[in-house]
Parts: sequence; structure tokens; C-alpha cells
Amino acid sequence: MLNIQKIRSKKQSIIALGSHIPILQSILDFDYLAGKEGPSVIAIIASGRKNVRLFWGEKDVLIPVYPTLAHLPASVKNEITLFLNLTSGRRVLSSTVELLDSLPNLLGGALFAENVPEKHSIEIFNKIKPGSRIKSGMTSGQFIVGPASVGLMIPGHLKLGAIAGTDAEQLMDSHVFEPGSVAVFSSSGGMTGELIRLVTTVQKRISFSLSFGGDRFPILTPVEAFLAAEHDPQTKHIVYFGELGGYDEYELVDLIKQKKVTKPIITYIGGTISAMFEKPPQFGHAKAMASRGEETAQAKTKALKSVGVKAAQSFEEFIDFVKKIKIKDNIPLPDGNPHVKRALRLLEGGLKNDLPYEGSTERSEGRDVQKVLSKMQQRTHALFMNSISQDKDGSVEIVGEEMLSMATKRSFGHIVGSMLLGRQLKSKDTAEFIELIMKLLVDHGPYVSGAINTMIAARAGKDLVSSLASGLLTIGPRFGGAINQAAQHWLEGVAESIDPDEYVERSAKQNKRISGIGHRKYRVDTPDPRVNVILTFAKKLNKSPYTLFAKSIEAVTTAKKANLILNVDGAIAAVLLDVLSQKEKISPEELQELINIEFFNALFVLSRSVGFTAHYLDQRRKDEGLFRLSPKEVGFAE
Ligand code: ACO
Ligand code: LMR
Repeated sequence: MLNIQKIRSKKQSIIALGSHIPILQSILDFDYLAGKEGPSVIAIIASGRKNVRLFWGEKDVLIPVYPTLAHLPASVKNEITLFLNLTSGRRVLSSTVELLDSLPNLLGGALFAENVPEKHSIEIFNKIKPGSRIKSGMTSGQFIVGPASVGLMIPGHLKLGAIAGTDAEQLMDSHVFEPGSVAVFSSSGGMTGELIRLVTTVQKRISFSLSFGGDRFPILTPVEAFLAAEHDPQTKHIVYFGELGGYDEYELVDLIKQKKVTKPIITYIGGTISAMFEKPPQFGHAKAMASRGEETAQAKTKALKSVGVKAAQSFEEFIDFVKKIKIKDNIPLPDGNPHVKRALRLLEGGLKNDLPYEGSTERSEGRDVQKVLSKMQQRTHALFMNSISQDKDGSVEIVGEEMLSMATKRSFGHIVGSMLLGRQLKSKDTAEFIELIMKLLVDHGPYVSGAINTMIAARAGKDLVSSLASGLLTIGPRFGGAINQAAQHWLEGVAESIDPDEYVERSAKQNKRISGIGHRKYRVDTPDPRVNVILTFAKKLNKSPYTLFAKSIEAVTTAKKANLILNVDGAIAAVLLDVLSQKEKISPEELQELINIEFFNALFVLSRSVGFTAHYLDQRRKDEGLFRLSPKEVGFAE
């Protein structure tokens, strides 16, 4: 059920299904101008990208995009309280049901699409009606406005959809940042917007507003909206634009008779013109057709008037009724509400030359609305977005820390780890481990393929960068570039509790090598000393599932061949997974993302660049000239 006060009482976090930039931007503009600390949209389900770039005021902001709900980190799933479904009409049912089954703290949402099959709307209605079963374990009883709805708006607090407009100027004109006591709703999104402007133009303010959508079976019905208004302590008046067709208004009449709705209602029922036709015409909305007498605008108006509703005979009279709303109990501008206070501060002061509006306790001085608006209308997106560093206060800030402070106060391992993660490390243990890896990997003798390529390029007269690049280009699945794939093995193995024997057997059958296993030089009886140092670090951790799994794989592979040991790439991958999850509190989903972007391989590249550079300089010092093999050294196979 729709509980406005419950929504108003806490910060709401929205997930958008689909990406409709103007609507999403209007929500962020609303949030920004309402003085919120950050966007209410915290996740978007869409394909083909990792972020949607929007504006937060005049600055760029990235909203994370996930390909499916399954990709949402658990923390984000738990934070989401509302949804905005922007998918096409045919996809609304499946996507909405999946949302309801996946998100444990949903209060409700809005469906934007038109042409949602009626049976789909009914199925969604049955899914959320109180008492129905929902997989995610949460109780049913959510609200869903729509289909074909511009959504729900609670001034100064929530904009869930295109409601009140998608342009900052429209939002300003509609004063949707100043809470009031008049609830406004209608089937039509356009009419809802008009009513919001009508009410605020005559110096009243909105308590909440929504549009039911023009479908025959709106999931949230007018009756529910009237009951929500009745139970909302901030709402003192209800302004409703109805339409011919259907019986909603008669249900309202019954509620009024039962004194379940007692607040004063002003309404106008559109469609009186249909009486001039011999055969009742079908108006735009699916429900807007008076096939029976009581469905006509005239009949509904009469019935509403009979129970004391101010049901206007004309739109002019309707406007006049709205103008004459007496705001007896001024809703004091919620001084404690940081949103509204910040919005006014953001808008540079209070209202300029406006009459005192509902709830305002005093005429405040010049807010230059136009100045704020012109800034927002002139904003342009940056060419790049980066979270690593920026110019700030005349210095360079690196992952949030002033450059010199970081250089003089932080360990190299902390700096490397923070920059590669894109945020300050939480734990000194992480910094210590990363520094250890960086030191262990700098070189492994002039024999290894990457070092040799650097040395050959140096002796061919190439410059530092070219020779270094030659060595770096050698790093790959068999040499130095196996840390990432090894991390993938260990992450999957632990996540799926895979039996090590089965895992090795499956790889062998697929003729696939297990990254992180095997070495050309080291064997069971001649272990890699680096590996022992790395594994010893894991003993610092309370638990190390990834390291244990990697060791269990090694136990199987070394039983097959002595050189199939856990190599340095595999050991780093395992312990680093354990350190990041235990010490940096990084979730499995985020670890997967780090693997996807090659975070793990980055450490070998960074560290071994020192060794390759040393070999380059050494060869330049020796300058033995061009390196060339003899026919004896390169065999020829017939
Ligand atoms: N998983 C399964 N089987 C393996 C693996 C592995 N990781 N490595 C080697 N084998 C098998 C081969 O399939 C081959 O089997 P076969 O005799 O039945 O054909 C046998 O062991 C010998 O293979 P070689 O490639 O000749 O062995 P080599 O000692 O040259 O391999 C290498 C060393 C390249 C590291 C190999 O073990 C490998 O590819 N490992 C996976 C990639 C990896 O972890 N690389 C990082 C190494 S450490 C570093 O670069 C810093
Ligand atoms: C290295 O660190 O380069 C090695 O483990 C690879 C090798 O072939 O020695």
C-alpha cells in the first residue's frame, strides 16, 4: 500500500530498469535542488555499458550500470527501496516480477511504459496485493504506480519518474522543492503536471502527487491514492482530475460515506463532451469511455457532489476552487529538514519577489532562480571521467589525498594499492602485502622471456621505452600474466565449492591449463622461495579460503607432475583475493570486477617494469651490439 509518510521518513534509493536519460537526469536535478547529499538513483539495469554519465548540479556524476539484477552487489540490493521501470511494455511484467523477487527492501515503484498487456498488469497487481507470496522473503503490500505513469513525487524528498517535468526549469516553476499540504493526482501524466503548476501558481504547495496512468487496470487505483492522502498527516486537501469511464469515483463516494476519506476534495471529471455524441466515443486513455450512463462525467460529478466533494462543472470553476483553498495550518518550512534548507541555500537565498507561499514562515530575500537555472542549462559533460586524481586547491590530489602528503606519509604499497583500487586502502595489511609483491616480482633473472626481449631490443639500439615495451609485450598467459586468470579459478572454486579433483580433471578433459599452476624451473622438490613467503602472509588472516583452494588444486596437480606446483602467479592471486576480501571488505562481485579489469595482472606489470628497465640500462652500459643466434642455436625442422 502507498504510505507517503513512510517514504518521506527515510532516504530513498532507486534502481532504474532501462536508461531514459532525460527522466533520470530530472530525478538527479530534483535531488540536487532539493538539497540531497547525492543522487537517489543508485543503480541502473541496462546493457552495453558500466556507467551512465549524468549531471549532479553542474558536475558530472557516474551512475553504475549492471547487465542484470544478479550482478548487483548485495549491499546495493539491500539499499534499494524503490524502482523505476523504464522498459518496454512487453518487458514490464518479467522485469518487475524479477525485481520484486530479488530486492528485499522494496517499498514500491513506478511503471513508465504504455501498452502493457492488461493481464500483465493484473498479474503484477496480484503479486503485490497484501498477503501474496513474494520469493525475496519480503512481505507483499508494495505500491506500484502505473503502467503508463509519470510516477510519484513528494516535494523536497522524492521524484520517481518524469512527474513534474524533465527540465530543471519546469521543476523550478513547479516549486517541487517546497513541501505543502495539497495532494494532486490524475490518470494523465500531462494533467498531473498541469495541476501541480496550477496549485503552486496560486501559492499553494504540494504534499505529494502521482499519476495512475491511462490503462484500464492501473495497479495503484484512485481509491488507494485517496486513502494514502487520507492517512498522510501532511496532506490537508486533495485535488483530483478524473475522467469519464470506469467506476473509481463511486468507490470514492462509498469511502466518503463510510468516513474513510474525510479530507476536503476538489475535483473535475473530464469528458463531459462525450454526452454530445450519439455513440459514446473512446477517448485517449483505454478506460476513458462511458459505455454506461453512470460512467459519464456528468453522472460522476453529480455523485461526488452528493457527498460534499467540490466537483466542478467546468475547468474554470475547478481552477477557482483550487484558488480558494484556505491553507489554515501553514505547514512550517521544515527547519530541521536539511534538504529544503540546502535547496534554498543552493538556490542562493529564499524566494525572490514571490508571495509568501503555503508553509513559508516569512518572506525571504533574493534567491536568484535564473542564475541557478542558467548555470544548469549551460552545463556540459567533461570529455573524461576519472576517480584517481584531480587538481584541487592548487595542488594535485591522488585518491583523495594531497600528493605530497601521500608521498611523504604513506608506504609505497599503500600508494600502489590505493591507486589501483581507486580509493584509499582500509588496511595496513593490504599495503604491506602489495609492497611485498612489488618487491618479490621485480626480477627473476635474465633468463625469463620478458627480460630477454628487453635485452635484445636494447642491443638492437632501441630506446628505453621501446625496449621496456618489448619486455612488457611478452607478459601473457604463460609468463607473468597468469595472476588474473588464476584469481578467476580460485574465485570460482570457492564460490561454487568445487571439488579440486573434479576441477583438475575437468580442465584436463578440456585440454585447458590451470593458470597459477606449473613452472619451467621450479618443482615440488625445488620450490619457488617466493611462493613460500607469499603463503606465509596468508597466516595473518583469520581465514583464507582462496589460498586453501589453490593449495588443494596444487595437491592434485603435483600428484600428476612434479612441476605442476602452485607458482608465484597462482600464489599471489590466492592470497591477494583473501587479503582484499578480509581486509578491504571487497565482495565477491567486486572481486570479479577487479579480475575483469585485470587488476591482478597490473601488479606484475608494475613490478617487473623495474627489472626490465634495469636490464635495459645494464645492456646499454655493456653495449655488446646487435644480438644474433647461430644456425646451431636455432634448429630447423624438416
Ligand atoms: N595445468 C595443467 N597442465 C599443465 C599446466 C597447467 N597449468 N602446466 C603444464 N601442464 C602440463 C602440460 O599440459 C604438459 O602436459 P603433457 O606433457 O601431457 O602435454 C606438461 O604439463 C608439460 O607442459 P609444458 O608447457 O611443457 O611445461 P612447462 O614447464 O614448460 O610449463 C608453464 C610451464 C608455461 C608455466 C606452464 O606450467 C603453464 O602454462 N602454466 C599455466 C600458466 C601460468 O601459470 N603461468 C605463470 C608462470 S609463473 C610466472 O610467469 C611469473
Ligand atoms: C618470473 O617471475 O619471471 C618467473 O616465475 C617466470 C620464470 O620463467 O622464471
